[in-house]
Amino acid sequence: MSGEPLAKKDLSPKFSKILNKLNAVSDRKQMHLLLDHPWDAPTEGVWLKKRENLSIYGTPYYDLATEEEKQRLSLYETGCWWHTFVVFENLVTEYYMKIINHESLRAFPDVVKYMHHFCREEITHAMVFKKAMTHFGIKPYPVPDNLKDFYKDNASIAEFPLKAIYMTILIEWFAENNALIDCNNDFVSPLSRAIAVEHHKEEARHIEWGKNMIREFMHQVPGFLEEAKEYSAPWMRGLLDMATTNPETYDRVGFNDPAFADYEALFESVIFCENRQQINRKIMDPILRFFIEIGVYDPAYHDIWEAARFGDDIRAALASFDKGKVEELDNVMSVKYNVS
Ligand SMILES: [Fe+2]
Ligand SMILES: [Fe+2]
Repeated sequence: MSGEPLAKKDLSPKFSKILNKLNAVSDRKQMHLLLDHPWDAPTEGVWLKKRENLSIYGTPYYDLATEEEKQRLSLYETGCWWHTFVVFENLVTEYYMKIINHESLRAFPDVVKYMHHFCREEITHAMVFKKAMTHFGIKPYPVPDNLKDFYKDNASIAEFPLKAIYMTILIEWFAENNALIDCNNDFVSPLSRAIAVEHHKEEARHIEWGKNMIREFMHQVPGFLEEAKEYSAPWMRGLLDMATTNPETYDRVGFNDPAFADYEALFESVIFCENRQQINRKIMDPILRFFIEIGVYDPAYHDIWEAARFGDDIRAALASFDKGKVEELDNVMSVKYNVS
Protein backbone atom coordinates (compact mmCIF):
# COMPACT_ATOMS: atom_id res chain seq x y z
CA MET A 1 0.00 0.00 0.00
CA SER A 2 1.66 3.19 -1.09
CA GLY A 3 1.25 6.32 -3.22
CA GLU A 4 -1.24 9.14 -3.18
CA PRO A 5 -4.56 9.00 -1.37
CA LEU A 6 -7.53 8.53 -3.67
CA ALA A 7 -8.76 11.86 -5.04
CA LYS A 8 -12.02 13.19 -3.73
CA LYS A 9 -15.15 12.45 -5.70
CA ASP A 10 -18.77 12.40 -4.72
CA LEU A 11 -19.88 8.96 -3.69
CA SER A 12 -22.92 7.75 -5.59
CA PRO A 13 -26.21 8.44 -3.77
CA LYS A 14 -26.81 4.67 -3.53
CA PHE A 15 -23.48 4.00 -1.82
CA SER A 16 -23.90 7.02 0.50
CA LYS A 17 -27.29 5.68 1.58
CA ILE A 18 -25.87 2.20 2.16
CA LEU A 19 -22.97 3.61 4.19
CA ASN A 20 -25.34 5.60 6.38
CA LYS A 21 -27.40 2.53 7.03
CA LEU A 22 -24.39 0.30 7.72
CA ASN A 23 -22.92 2.84 10.12
CA ALA A 24 -26.27 3.29 11.89
CA VAL A 25 -26.74 -0.46 12.38
CA SER A 26 -23.19 -0.92 13.73
CA ASP A 27 -23.65 2.11 16.02
CA ARG A 28 -26.78 0.52 17.44
CA LYS A 29 -25.59 -3.03 18.21
CA GLN A 30 -22.39 -5.00 17.89
CA MET A 31 -21.50 -8.50 19.01
CA HIS A 32 -20.63 -8.93 22.68
CA LEU A 33 -17.98 -11.43 23.74
CA LEU A 34 -19.95 -12.52 26.81
CA LEU A 35 -23.63 -12.04 26.12
CA ASP A 36 -24.55 -13.19 22.62
CA HIS A 37 -23.82 -16.93 22.72
CA PRO A 38 -24.98 -19.85 24.92
CA TRP A 39 -21.56 -20.50 26.50
CA ASP A 40 -23.08 -22.95 28.98
CA ALA A 41 -24.02 -25.34 26.14
CA PRO A 42 -22.74 -28.93 26.54
CA THR A 43 -19.47 -29.98 24.95
CA GLU A 44 -19.41 -33.78 25.29
CA GLY A 45 -20.13 -35.71 22.12
CA VAL A 46 -21.84 -32.80 20.34
CA TRP A 47 -21.70 -32.21 16.60
CA LEU A 48 -20.40 -28.84 15.42
CA LYS A 49 -21.70 -29.23 11.87
CA LYS A 50 -24.35 -31.40 10.27
CA ARG A 51 -23.35 -34.85 9.02
CA GLU A 52 -24.38 -34.16 5.39
CA ASN A 53 -21.68 -31.50 5.26
CA LEU A 54 -18.82 -33.63 6.56
CA SER A 55 -16.16 -33.72 3.86
CA ILE A 56 -16.44 -37.51 3.55
CA TYR A 57 -20.26 -37.59 3.29
CA GLY A 58 -21.32 -39.00 -0.06
CA THR A 59 -17.98 -40.80 -0.59
CA PRO A 60 -17.17 -44.49 0.07
CA TYR A 61 -15.13 -43.33 3.09
CA TYR A 62 -18.26 -42.30 4.97
CA ASP A 63 -19.29 -45.93 5.55
CA LEU A 64 -15.76 -46.85 6.64
CA ALA A 65 -15.73 -44.33 9.48
CA THR A 66 -17.26 -45.08 12.89
CA GLU A 67 -19.92 -42.81 14.42
CA GLU A 68 -17.38 -41.46 16.94
CA GLU A 69 -14.93 -40.66 14.14
CA LYS A 70 -17.65 -38.79 12.25
CA GLN A 71 -18.49 -36.78 15.36
CA ARG A 72 -14.81 -35.92 15.87
CA LEU A 73 -14.58 -34.96 12.20
CA SER A 74 -17.46 -32.49 12.74
CA LEU A 75 -15.48 -31.06 15.67
CA TYR A 76 -12.14 -30.70 13.88
CA GLU A 77 -13.49 -29.55 10.52
CA THR A 78 -15.44 -26.77 12.22
CA GLY A 79 -12.51 -26.04 14.56
CA CYS A 80 -10.24 -25.63 11.56
CA TRP A 81 -12.61 -23.04 10.09
CA TRP A 82 -12.78 -21.23 13.44
CA HIS A 83 -9.01 -21.12 13.65
CA THR A 84 -8.78 -19.80 10.09
CA PHE A 85 -11.26 -17.09 11.07
CA VAL A 86 -9.11 -16.17 14.09
CA VAL A 87 -6.01 -15.77 11.92
CA PHE A 88 -7.65 -14.10 8.95
CA GLU A 89 -9.78 -11.66 10.95
CA ASN A 90 -6.72 -10.56 12.93
CA LEU A 91 -4.91 -9.95 9.64
CA VAL A 92 -7.84 -7.99 8.18
CA THR A 93 -7.99 -5.81 11.28
CA GLU A 94 -4.27 -5.03 11.14
CA TYR A 95 -4.47 -4.26 7.46
CA TYR A 96 -7.62 -2.10 7.51
CA MET A 97 -6.31 -0.14 10.49
CA LYS A 98 -3.18 0.50 8.44
CA ILE A 99 -5.28 1.88 5.57
CA ILE A 100 -7.11 4.11 8.05
CA ASN A 101 -3.88 5.35 9.64
CA HIS A 102 -2.23 6.01 6.29
CA GLU A 103 -5.28 8.09 5.34
CA SER A 104 -5.57 6.55 1.88
CA LEU A 105 -9.30 7.07 2.11
CA ARG A 106 -9.44 10.39 3.92
CA ALA A 107 -11.53 11.88 1.09
CA PHE A 108 -14.34 9.52 2.14
CA PRO A 109 -15.00 9.95 5.87
CA ASP A 110 -18.13 7.77 5.89
CA VAL A 111 -16.11 4.92 4.38
CA VAL A 112 -13.44 5.36 7.04
CA LYS A 113 -16.08 5.49 9.77
CA TYR A 114 -17.45 2.17 8.62
CA MET A 115 -13.95 0.68 8.51
CA HIS A 116 -13.61 1.51 12.19
CA HIS A 117 -16.81 -0.41 12.91
CA PHE A 118 -15.56 -3.22 10.70
CA CYS A 119 -12.31 -3.54 12.65
CA ARG A 120 -14.06 -3.37 16.02
CA GLU A 121 -16.35 -6.19 14.87
CA GLU A 122 -13.52 -8.38 13.58
CA ILE A 123 -11.61 -8.04 16.85
CA THR A 124 -14.63 -9.39 18.76
CA HIS A 125 -15.23 -12.15 16.19
CA ALA A 126 -11.67 -13.42 16.53
CA MET A 127 -12.02 -13.46 20.32
CA VAL A 128 -15.31 -15.39 20.05
CA PHE A 129 -13.84 -18.01 17.70
CA LYS A 130 -10.84 -18.43 19.97
CA LYS A 131 -13.08 -18.77 23.01
CA ALA A 132 -15.17 -21.38 21.16
CA MET A 133 -12.06 -23.39 20.32
CA THR A 134 -11.06 -23.38 23.99
CA HIS A 135 -14.63 -24.31 24.98
CA PHE A 136 -14.49 -27.46 22.84
CA GLY A 137 -10.81 -28.22 23.57
CA ILE A 138 -9.63 -27.61 19.99
CA LYS A 139 -5.98 -26.65 19.68
CA PRO A 140 -4.74 -24.15 17.03
CA TYR A 141 -3.91 -25.43 13.54
CA PRO A 142 -0.79 -24.69 11.52
CA VAL A 143 -1.25 -21.50 9.48
CA PRO A 144 -0.59 -21.90 5.74
CA ASP A 145 2.02 -19.52 4.30
CA ASN A 146 -0.38 -18.12 1.71
CA LEU A 147 -2.66 -17.02 4.54
CA LYS A 148 0.17 -15.57 6.64
CA ASP A 149 1.37 -13.51 3.69
CA PHE A 150 -2.05 -12.68 2.31
CA TYR A 151 -1.85 -8.90 2.66
CA LYS A 152 1.84 -8.76 1.88
CA ASP A 153 1.16 -10.48 -1.42
CA ASN A 154 -2.07 -8.77 -2.38
CA ALA A 155 -1.87 -5.26 -1.06
CA SER A 156 0.87 -3.72 -3.13
CA ILE A 157 -1.36 -1.86 -5.57
CA ALA A 158 -0.22 1.73 -5.83
CA GLU A 159 -2.67 4.40 -4.72
CA PHE A 160 -5.62 2.29 -3.66
CA PRO A 161 -5.76 -1.25 -2.28
CA LEU A 162 -8.97 -2.29 -4.04
CA LYS A 163 -7.63 -5.73 -4.92
CA ALA A 164 -7.05 -6.50 -1.23
CA ILE A 165 -10.58 -5.32 -0.36
CA TYR A 166 -11.99 -7.44 -3.21
CA MET A 167 -10.15 -10.59 -2.13
CA THR A 168 -11.08 -9.95 1.49
CA ILE A 169 -14.81 -9.86 0.79
CA LEU A 170 -14.61 -12.95 -1.38
CA ILE A 171 -12.98 -14.85 1.47
CA GLU A 172 -15.53 -13.50 3.95
CA TRP A 173 -18.40 -14.28 1.60
CA PHE A 174 -17.50 -17.87 0.76
CA ALA A 175 -16.59 -18.61 4.40
CA GLU A 176 -19.90 -17.19 5.61
CA ASN A 177 -21.99 -19.15 3.11
CA ASN A 178 -20.12 -22.28 4.09
CA ALA A 179 -20.59 -21.71 7.83
CA LEU A 180 -24.33 -21.12 7.54
CA ILE A 181 -24.91 -24.18 5.38
CA ASP A 182 -22.84 -26.33 7.75
CA CYS A 183 -24.92 -25.46 10.82
CA ASN A 184 -28.51 -25.00 9.74
CA ASN A 185 -30.24 -27.86 11.52
CA ASP A 186 -31.18 -28.90 15.04
CA PHE A 187 -28.68 -31.74 15.12
CA VAL A 188 -25.85 -29.24 15.49
CA SER A 189 -24.73 -27.86 18.89
CA PRO A 190 -26.69 -24.67 19.74
CA LEU A 191 -23.39 -22.94 20.52
CA SER A 192 -21.94 -23.81 17.11
CA ARG A 193 -25.12 -22.56 15.43
CA ALA A 194 -25.14 -19.34 17.44
CA ILE A 195 -21.50 -18.70 16.54
CA ALA A 196 -22.35 -18.97 12.83
CA VAL A 197 -25.57 -16.94 13.02
CA GLU A 198 -24.24 -14.13 15.24
CA HIS A 199 -21.14 -13.86 13.09
CA HIS A 200 -23.25 -13.72 9.96
CA LYS A 201 -25.27 -10.75 11.24
CA GLU A 202 -22.13 -8.60 11.12
CA GLU A 203 -20.40 -10.33 8.21
CA ALA A 204 -23.44 -9.73 5.98
CA ARG A 205 -22.78 -6.02 6.49
CA HIS A 206 -19.03 -6.40 5.82
CA ILE A 207 -19.79 -8.23 2.60
CA GLU A 208 -22.34 -5.61 1.56
CA TRP A 209 -19.80 -2.85 2.24
CA GLY A 210 -17.10 -4.69 0.28
CA LYS A 211 -19.36 -5.34 -2.72
CA ASN A 212 -20.28 -1.68 -2.86
CA MET A 213 -16.66 -0.54 -2.49
CA ILE A 214 -15.91 -2.62 -5.59
CA ARG A 215 -18.91 -1.26 -7.52
CA GLU A 216 -17.98 2.31 -6.55
CA PHE A 217 -14.25 2.29 -7.24
CA MET A 218 -13.49 -0.53 -9.70
CA HIS A 219 -13.31 1.76 -12.72
CA GLN A 220 -10.99 4.21 -10.96
CA VAL A 221 -8.26 1.66 -10.33
CA PRO A 222 -6.35 0.97 -13.55
CA GLY A 223 -6.11 -2.70 -14.42
CA PHE A 224 -8.28 -3.89 -11.52
CA LEU A 225 -11.02 -5.47 -13.63
CA GLU A 226 -8.76 -6.96 -16.28
CA GLU A 227 -6.64 -8.64 -13.64
CA ALA A 228 -9.68 -9.86 -11.68
CA LYS A 229 -11.11 -11.50 -14.81
CA GLU A 230 -8.05 -13.72 -14.92
CA TYR A 231 -7.34 -14.69 -11.31
CA SER A 232 -10.81 -14.83 -9.69
CA ALA A 233 -11.91 -18.26 -10.96
CA PRO A 234 -8.73 -20.27 -10.24
CA TRP A 235 -8.24 -18.49 -6.93
CA MET A 236 -11.79 -19.25 -5.76
CA ARG A 237 -11.43 -22.89 -6.80
CA GLY A 238 -8.21 -23.11 -4.79
CA LEU A 239 -9.99 -21.70 -1.73
CA LEU A 240 -12.89 -24.16 -2.03
CA ASP A 241 -10.65 -27.21 -2.43
CA MET A 242 -8.23 -26.15 0.29
CA ALA A 243 -11.08 -25.53 2.73
CA THR A 244 -12.54 -28.97 2.08
CA THR A 245 -9.49 -31.16 2.59
CA ASN A 246 -7.01 -30.70 5.41
CA PRO A 247 -4.48 -33.41 6.40
CA GLU A 248 -4.17 -32.00 9.92
CA THR A 249 -7.92 -32.42 10.45
CA TYR A 250 -7.85 -36.05 9.33
CA ASP A 251 -4.73 -36.70 11.44
CA ARG A 252 -6.54 -35.43 14.53
CA VAL A 253 -9.58 -37.65 13.94
CA GLY A 254 -7.28 -40.66 13.61
CA PHE A 255 -9.48 -42.90 11.45
CA ASN A 256 -9.06 -46.59 12.16
CA ASP A 257 -9.77 -48.00 8.75
CA PRO A 258 -6.53 -48.33 6.70
CA ALA A 259 -8.26 -46.90 3.61
CA PHE A 260 -7.88 -43.45 5.19
CA ALA A 261 -4.08 -43.66 5.12
CA ASP A 262 -3.86 -42.72 1.42
CA TYR A 263 -4.62 -38.99 1.63
CA GLU A 264 -4.20 -38.44 -2.08
CA ALA A 265 -7.02 -40.88 -2.89
CA LEU A 266 -9.10 -39.54 0.00
CA PHE A 267 -8.77 -35.90 -1.13
CA GLU A 268 -9.63 -36.79 -4.72
CA SER A 269 -12.74 -38.66 -3.59
CA VAL A 270 -13.85 -35.82 -1.30
CA ILE A 271 -13.27 -32.97 -3.75
CA PHE A 272 -14.98 -34.61 -6.72
CA CYS A 273 -17.98 -36.22 -4.99
CA GLU A 274 -21.44 -35.04 -6.05
CA ASN A 275 -22.42 -33.99 -2.51
CA ARG A 276 -19.45 -31.60 -2.25
CA GLN A 277 -20.17 -30.18 -5.68
CA GLN A 278 -23.74 -29.41 -4.65
CA ILE A 279 -22.57 -27.70 -1.45
CA ASN A 280 -20.01 -25.68 -3.39
CA ARG A 281 -22.68 -24.67 -5.89
CA LYS A 282 -24.82 -23.24 -3.06
CA ILE A 283 -21.80 -21.42 -1.64
CA MET A 284 -20.78 -20.00 -4.99
CA ASP A 285 -24.08 -19.09 -6.65
CA PRO A 286 -24.49 -15.57 -5.15
CA ILE A 287 -20.77 -14.91 -5.66
CA LEU A 288 -20.91 -15.96 -9.30
CA ARG A 289 -23.90 -13.67 -9.87
CA PHE A 290 -21.84 -10.80 -8.42
CA PHE A 291 -19.01 -11.67 -10.83
CA ILE A 292 -21.47 -11.55 -13.72
CA GLU A 293 -22.94 -8.25 -12.54
CA ILE A 294 -19.63 -6.40 -12.25
CA GLY A 295 -18.03 -7.95 -15.34
CA VAL A 296 -15.42 -10.11 -13.58
CA TYR A 297 -17.06 -12.92 -15.51
CA ASP A 298 -16.46 -12.02 -19.15
CA PRO A 299 -17.63 -14.48 -21.85
CA ALA A 300 -14.37 -13.80 -23.70
CA TYR A 301 -12.55 -15.45 -20.77
CA HIS A 302 -14.99 -18.34 -20.39
CA ASP A 303 -12.26 -20.97 -20.77
CA ILE A 304 -10.72 -19.84 -17.47
CA TRP A 305 -14.02 -20.65 -15.70
CA GLU A 306 -14.24 -24.05 -17.38
CA ALA A 307 -10.65 -24.85 -16.41
CA ALA A 308 -11.45 -23.92 -12.79
CA ARG A 309 -14.47 -26.31 -12.89
CA PHE A 310 -17.06 -23.53 -12.71
CA GLY A 311 -18.48 -24.16 -16.20
CA ASP A 312 -21.84 -25.65 -15.11
CA ASP A 313 -22.17 -23.28 -12.16
CA ILE A 314 -21.60 -20.18 -14.25
CA ARG A 315 -24.14 -21.38 -16.84
CA ALA A 316 -26.71 -21.85 -14.06
CA ALA A 317 -25.88 -18.42 -12.61
CA LEU A 318 -26.15 -16.79 -16.03
CA ALA A 319 -29.55 -18.40 -16.58
CA SER A 320 -30.93 -17.03 -13.31
CA PHE A 321 -29.16 -13.67 -13.39
CA ASP A 322 -31.42 -10.67 -13.75
CA LYS A 323 -29.62 -7.37 -14.01
CA GLY A 324 -32.72 -5.49 -12.91
CA LYS A 325 -32.73 -7.38 -9.63
CA VAL A 326 -29.28 -6.92 -8.18
CA GLU A 327 -29.48 -7.83 -4.52
CA GLU A 328 -30.48 -4.92 -2.34
CA LEU A 329 -29.07 -4.22 1.09
CA ASP A 330 -32.27 -5.15 2.92
CA ASN A 331 -32.33 -8.60 1.37
CA VAL A 332 -28.75 -9.33 2.30
CA MET A 333 -29.08 -7.98 5.81
CA SER A 334 -32.11 -10.02 6.75
CA VAL A 335 -30.27 -12.97 8.20
CA LYS A 336 -31.34 -16.21 6.61
CA TYR A 337 -31.09 -19.03 9.11
CA ASN A 338 -32.23 -21.65 6.64
CA VAL A 339 -29.78 -21.56 3.82
CA SER A 340 -30.67 -24.83 2.23
FE1 LIG B 1 -15.71 -11.73 11.16
FE1 LIG C 1 -15.80 -9.55 8.31
